[in-house]
Amino acid sequence: MTEAKLEAWLEETRSFAPSPEFAKQANAQPSIYAEADADPVAFWRKQADRLVWHKEPTKTLEWDIPFAKWFSDGELNASVNCVDRHVAAGKGDKVAYYWVADAEGESRTITYGDLQKLVAQAANALTELGVKKGDRVAVYMPMIPEAVVTMLAIVRLGAVHSVVFGGFSADALSSRILDSDCQFVVTADGAYRRGTASPLKPAVDEALKSCPNVKAVLVVKRTGSDVEWVKGRDHWWHEIVDKQSTEHTPEFFPSEHTMFIMYTSGTTAKPKGIFHTTAGYLTQAATTHYYVFDVKADKDICWTAADIGWITGHSYIVYGPLINGVTQIMYEGLPDSGGKDRWWKIIEQFKATILYTAPTTIRTLMKWGEEFPKSHDLSSLRLLGTVGEPINPEAWMWYRENIGGSRCPIVDTWWQTETGAIMCSPLPGITATKPGAAMKALPGISVDIVDNDGNSVGNGEGGYLVITQPWPSMTRGIYGDPERFKETYWSRFPGKYFAGDGAKRDDDGDIWLLGRIDDVMNISGHRLSTTEVEHALVGHPAVAEAAVVGASDDLTGQAIVAFVTLRLSADEQMQDQAAVIEELRVHVAKVISPIARPRQIILTPELPKTRSGKIMRRLLRDVAENRQLGDVTTLMDPTVVNMISGLMGSGDDGDQ
Ligand code: WT7
Repeated sequence: MTEAKLEAWLEETRSFAPSPEFAKQANAQPSIYAEADADPVAFWRKQADRLVWHKEPTKTLEWDIPFAKWFSDGELNASVNCVDRHVAAGKGDKVAYYWVADAEGESRTITYGDLQKLVAQAANALTELGVKKGDRVAVYMPMIPEAVVTMLAIVRLGAVHSVVFGGFSADALSSRILDSDCQFVVTADGAYRRGTASPLKPAVDEALKSCPNVKAVLVVKRTGSDVEWVKGRDHWWHEIVDKQSTEHTPEFFPSEHTMFIMYTSGTTAKPKGIFHTTAGYLTQAATTHYYVFDVKADKDICWTAADIGWITGHSYIVYGPLINGVTQIMYEGLPDSGGKDRWWKIIEQFKATILYTAPTTIRTLMKWGEEFPKSHDLSSLRLLGTVGEPINPEAWMWYRENIGGSRCPIVDTWWQTETGAIMCSPLPGITATKPGAAMKALPGISVDIVDNDGNSVGNGEGGYLVITQPWPSMTRGIYGDPERFKETYWSRFPGKYFAGDGAKRDDDGDIWLLGRIDDVMNISGHRLSTTEVEHALVGHPAVAEAAVVGASDDLTGQAIVAFVTLRLSADEQMQDQAAVIEELRVHVAKVISPIARPRQIILTPELPKTRSGKIMRRLLRDVAENRQLGDVTTLMDPTVVNMISGLMGSGDDGDQ
């Protein structure tokens, strides 16, 4: 569809009504909104019956802004809820995961019965290594079944996992280990990407040089590459886990027991350790998975194409789907491992019914062309989902037509690491969908869009997205820093959770997300703060000062543009520009992650600053987007901006 055609279409029809067939069999029926509106707390108490309790809660919500407790006098075990309960119910032979390797032809089928044994063995091994209730365990692993097994084994023991995305650098890993004082690390020798083994264990070795409290490292052999070994500290998974008993008697923990920490970027250089507790998190992960994806445990094959290193993987590859007892696909590789039609082959082979992915991936698949999905039978699909950033209507339409055969509802799900589970989304079978809109708060969730003064905006107006009532899977805070938690989320609009996103209500009152309004960038659905990247740049000896902004990018949503002043003399700069730029790009990738590599670095003798010395990012953003420059009257030296605009064309715009 051309852009003009799309515009015309949006003007004319604007939405897709749910099909009557889908509506009839949908898990969510229209009365769900009225029921939840009437008494949201009672609604969530009922949803908590999706969990198996060792001790049923009698309390539902205790709310002391901004600290919530849900189901606080209940007791349960997260891993029993995900695994043992299904085996006890006679579903031990049901497939939990079809694990698909990076290499074509390699796969593993893991039933709920298998998973129970694997988790028991891993829990016994972690106990042998000294892991106890409350201990923090860092998980730095590729997308292999052992990663899920490890997470479940950790929470089974009442310990706390902190999964760090395998693409993060040794520096990023060590700062996360130190921040929450993890004493154990689970990793692998390496990971496969498009058939090539890339190392993981060396990054752990490097990170641990600055983490003296780490007592034990458990290492899965995945690639067979050579690794260095620290005797007494390092243990092979196959040597210590495989010999353990396949039985493990669980303990039970209070609902508010801390379950995991997930680091995410805020507006400062230091990532925030967002932590979640057990029962509220599990309740909302399972409930949203059930209603938003409309899952039928006996029929569906769900594929969340994300990494367990992000919250999406936690909630919709591990906890939500396992509680609901569904069968899933877990894929190790990249979308083009083995060819640009790899995803469609997987869907055809395993008859996937539900696919959940991110706009940036959809745009990549779209760029590769529709001949790839066309060459496979995708008729098993019945629902599509998207998450991570606002989806542009064109990508939404492409997804609908080429992947969903124009018959699958699309759920555009807005949520965050902090919210733990989906907050805004259409409900399939009920909500007429619009390309690019997250539409509505889910039943039991209260969101609003407010202006600068905190007043609700009317239809057709934009503002800030806030959440006005507590929800079960809300983060219980920033690990070790309650003040920062209050300040970041609860001070902008007192009593309301400030998400950091801009949003608008259309003329029908439906919600459209407009992207971050703070200094957080969204690169391919990954959050990075401008300061974090500036910090990395300034950490390079050649750099005097750096200012980073996010600029729109056709593929990655946003891309990083950095304005840098060097310590080198003008002469040196002239000679070495291209080399310096390349070195800085590599440096940032190494310090943070390849995701953070700037698309463009502009070397400039000066940065535009206000009279009080603040860098004027708004101006730089305008420069990076080639927009007309706004007000420059507060600028110390207005000629700086013209100079920088002039330099833009000469910057490096190498590929990511
Ligand atoms: C930020 C949260 C939730 C898992 C993935 C990202 C953006 C997320 C949408 C959506 C528009 C979205 C927001 C949000 N975002 N989903 N459907 N439409 N924007 O988790 O790393 O915590 O990032 O991602 O800006 O604040 P995260």
